[in-house]
Amino acid sequence: MRSALSFFTLVLASVDLSLALPRAYQQPSRRSSVNILDDVLVFDAPAFDDPANPGNTLVQLQAYVGTRQINLLGPLLSGISGLLDKTLGLDISKNLDRVGDRLALFATVPLGKKDVTVNVNGCGDAATLPPTDGGMAIQNLTLGACKNAVPATAVLGNVKMTFLDSRSPNFTVFPSSADGFGVISDIDDTVKVSHSLDKLLLAKATLIDTPVPVTGMPEVFKSLAKSLKSPQFIYVSASPFQLYPFLRDFISTTYAASNGPIMLKNLTTTDISDIVDFAQSNGIFEYKSAMIDRVHGMYPGKKFLLVGDSTQKDPETYGEAIRKYGDFVACAWIRKVDEANNTDARFAAAFKNVPQAKIHLYSDDEIPALAKVDVAGGKCS
Ligand SMILES: *[C@@H]1O[C@H](CO)[C@@H](O)[C@H](O)[C@H]1NC(C)=O
Ligand SMILES: *[C@@H]1O[C@H](CO)[C@@H](O)[C@H](O)[C@H]1NC(C)=O
Ligand SMILES: *[C@@H]1O[C@H](CO)[C@@H](O)[C@H](O)[C@H]1NC(C)=O
Ligand SMILES: *[C@@H]1O[C@H](CO)[C@@H](O)[C@H](O)[C@H]1NC(C)=O
Repeated sequence: MRSALSFFTLVLASVDLSLALPRAYQQPSRRSSVNILDDVLVFDAPAFDDPANPGNTLVQLQAYVGTRQINLLGPLLSGISGLLDKTLGLDISKNLDRVGDRLALFATVPLGKKDVTVNVNGCGDAATLPPTDGGMAIQNLTLGACKNAVPATAVLGNVKMTFLDSRSPNFTVFPSSADGFGVISDIDDTVKVSHSLDKLLLAKATLIDTPVPVTGMPEVFKSLAKSLKSPQFIYVSASPFQLYPFLRDFISTTYAASNGPIMLKNLTTTDISDIVDFAQSNGIFEYKSAMIDRVHGMYPGKKFLLVGDSTQKDPETYGEAIRKYGDFVACAWIRKVDEANNTDARFAAAFKNVPQAKIHLYSDDEIPALAKVDVAGGKCS
């Protein structure tokens, strides 16, 4: 089974990296602010009541900073173009602009020691993340100085840029109370048609095609937004973070009623060989389990509906989450994808020692009925 992650790993690892991509990230000698030559991305972020200090709101903010390297995009595109042509017979030459847009972040060089300073609307002081390491910085920042301790709805934040830099990168903060419901959903083949099991179709869906939702799922999520009273939606995918702009556009438009932060894998161009090994040794299970731990750390008092599919490791990951966290997981819904391993043996192993009432395996013709499941009332199917 090929996952999106190992597909990209394959593609990137096969491209002549000495030509196309830098081997090491850049580490300036001193800390510095984001400047006009840098690319900065602040991911949409969840905000939560600090479990250790109730009444204080935290926002878990993650940022990426890289140097813009326009000269890398050409070699990257021609490498990928040649590889896809040779291995899959896929010709992307007529779509290079679009492929270039989708892969643009792969052509940035991660930068260390960069300070990212943000303002969140309605909150007094600017906050600064710890300096980037390998291009990334992540920290819980306090929103204690905000006018309303816990903002009721999504609020916009801005990255503070240096003088003369007219760009104004923004991000959305999604606050949610300590109780109530949440939804953790996979993206590929759960809410978006990605063809994870078919390399050619996966490459097309990821690089070229306009993204298409799994039929009926936007309506199901919209109805959950209502029946679960604005649950915190969090999308977790093992795709590399470089695909974030593409996936975020898709979720925030097609799934506007169930918009939320997207957690993606921290794949840096410096650790491709590690990632190859990691992916081959069930890295997706470990990564997704770690993301569920991360969500549990923020919202230990919520109940989550987990939504995934049978192409990768969602059944195994969600089964483990229920064994570990009990009623923190209200239900696990798994879409049975044609061609995936949908055997009783697989699901029995994945959900061993798990209350069967929490598990709902569904086929595509059962998707519309999901909207009628009374999850708030304790039902899973
Ligand atoms: C992302 O990966 C880089 C390089 O391996 C590492 O330095 C950094 O700490 C990681 N960041 C996060 C948020 O995991
Ligand atoms: C946020 O950034 C996007 C992309 O750069 C831009 O299109 C949008 O207008 C910005 N929104 C606000 C409210 O500044
Ligand atoms: C942020 O806070 C949560 C909840 O207390 C905790 O689980 C997590 O480890 C913290 N993350 C960081 C990066 O400090
Ligand atoms: C399906 O998964 C089960 C349990 O992991 C495994 O024993 C079986 O060999 C798999 N079948 C196929 C066709 O991959």
